[in-house]
Amino acid sequence: MAQGFSQEPGTHGPMEDLPAKGLRRVRLWAWTIAVGGFLFGFDTGVVSGALLFMREEFGLDSVQQSSVVSVLLIGAMIGALGAGRVSDRIGRRWTLALEGAVFVVGTVIIVTANGYGMLIVARVVLGLAVGGASATVPVYLSEISPPPIRGRVLSLNQLMITIGILVSYLVDLAFSSAEDWRAMFAVGFVPAAVIVVGALTVLPESPQWLITHGHIDRARKTIGAVTTEERADELIERARHKREEQQRGGEDQQGARALVARHARPALIVGLTLAAVQQFGGINTIIYYAPTVIEQTGLNASNSIFYSVFIGLINLVMTLVSIRLIDRVGRRPLLTFSLLGMCVSIALLGLAFVADLGSVLTLIFMVLYIAVYAVGLGPVFWVLIGEVFPSHVRAVGSSASTTVNWLSNFVVSLVFLPLATVIGQGETFWIFAVICLLGLLFTARYVPETRGRDFDEVDQELRSRFGDRHPAGQ
Ligand code: GLC
Repeated sequence: MAQGFSQEPGTHGPMEDLPAKGLRRVRLWAWTIAVGGFLFGFDTGVVSGALLFMREEFGLDSVQQSSVVSVLLIGAMIGALGAGRVSDRIGRRWTLALEGAVFVVGTVIIVTANGYGMLIVARVVLGLAVGGASATVPVYLSEISPPPIRGRVLSLNQLMITIGILVSYLVDLAFSSAEDWRAMFAVGFVPAAVIVVGALTVLPESPQWLITHGHIDRARKTIGAVTTEERADELIERARHKREEQQRGGEDQQGARALVARHARPALIVGLTLAAVQQFGGINTIIYYAPTVIEQTGLNASNSIFYSVFIGLINLVMTLVSIRLIDRVGRRPLLTFSLLGMCVSIALLGLAFVADLGSVLTLIFMVLYIAVYAVGLGPVFWVLIGEVFPSHVRAVGSSASTTVNWLSNFVVSLVFLPLATVIGQGETFWIFAVICLLGLLFTARYVPETRGRDFDEVDQELRSRFGDRHPAGQ
């Protein structure tokens, strides 16, 4: 099957064959697609500041309030689950446009909501869009990017998620004195419109998808717009050859069944495990509850938005650092460093609570934890989701992993506060430390290095890490 812009093994040095014009195009496409990541961050973050005012307007009790927050996660699971099949059928471009349109609809419903029921419906619809986009974006980014910069391009997703989170806090801040929660949500129109218009005007269909569906000339045109004509011909020829080979070996089936077939299984295990580790490592307990945690150390958290913005800024800055490093040092070193750092810092954070080490140390460990997360596990998970799956199951593989990511997110946000009450705040952080450690061991053994490699090479490394030495198709 086709490999998008992938190159022959051995030719993935600096980008000699990517003209400046091509690079500019890839950048434009990548930023447009990554607006989907912005929606992810924005909509998970914005509700925190809006909730207070919604509560007052509609008289919501605490169960109703938490359901307004968490039904988005349920919608997101469903959206992520469906996105793979849809994007295999109608293409990445139309899927993204559709997700943008669903987001517009969800925003209209929430901005005009006149009661609790409508709020719930709106949050589910927004969730469908956010979840769908979170599964589509890594696949789309992966398939429009040339290997030498694929890490950077794929990290844009996480960068936009962190920007979305930060912007949502600032938007909450801006409208909180007017108590205008509807205006907070209305800001979401802008990125949603950018996605719809961008998908319909600027974005090309993924060359990968085009080749799979037999539109060879269109695929050649898209690849030719980025690299030289000869190079495009060469890549298309190779992709066709590969596709025929896979058809002969019966490895070109799409869909869920193909995903659990033997040759795709290692990628699936890596995708699902990292999805769970990213959430069960505890990140969103800090992202969502930083002010609550800080308050428990005795610091005055009345200005809670300040702490959130501060944490959000560290997250953003360190993600930028990761983007600079990812195509130079590779995914495995970043991930290993990050998981080790998270394990140590959250264990220390736990200790700070158990041994009452005071608020300054608590804050330091928390910042350290966010920083090491943002340089590795945060972006690298989304990068690998776009890279580890063989082409024919990439969309459904991303769907499955993203669904598990949302599901784990949901479970952690549900149990964190009750668990901390029962076994203690520090002890809860120690559980996260153990999960980071397990994630580290898993990474050392099973996660392949994907830097600069084409998808065949990734596939081979995965098979050998999982002890499967059979050549493709057997
Ligand atoms: C990742 C996670 C997301 C989290 C974010 C924080 O994107 O998937 O759940 O909120 O990182 O930066």
